[in-house]
Amino acid sequence: MNSLREAAMAVQQRAYAPYSGFRVGAALETSEGTIVTGCNVENAAYGATICAERAAIAAAVATGYTSFTRLALVSDSPRPITPCGTCRQVLNEFGPGIVVESWAGDTVQRWTVSELLPGAFSREHLS
Ligand code: THU
Repeated sequence: MNSLREAAMAVQQRAYAPYSGFRVGAALETSEGTIVTGCNVENAAYGATICAERAAIAAAVATGYTSFTRLALVSDSPRPITPCGTCRQVLNEFGPGIVVESWAGDTVQRWTVSELLPGAFSREHLS
């Protein structure tokens, strides 16, 4: 099996999702070939919840990685999920070209981040 998908499946087991019961695992492949993972972390103040994608990005940056090639996603949904709007924005910061591959059983869907967030606000707009 695809090792990025396997890493996403492993970290999905660590999801902290007592409110939604919906567990998500994310595995990022860095440009160096390392895999960094994240899961969703919910909170009693629901809006403070962190999605798996952003948890993976934060873990990667804290480990010293800021360049990524692929992101594998797995969840409890019978259909491949897509990253939420906030996660799309955060992913875009680190690469419009990152390929997101979302799995549900053996069904996979793939998009680039720029396909998921066309016209994204980015650092170019700040200057
Ligand atoms: N969630 C993610 O972690 N990633 C997504 O792409 C969609 C949603 C989480 C947030 C919340 O903990 C639960 O899934 C239900 O929305």
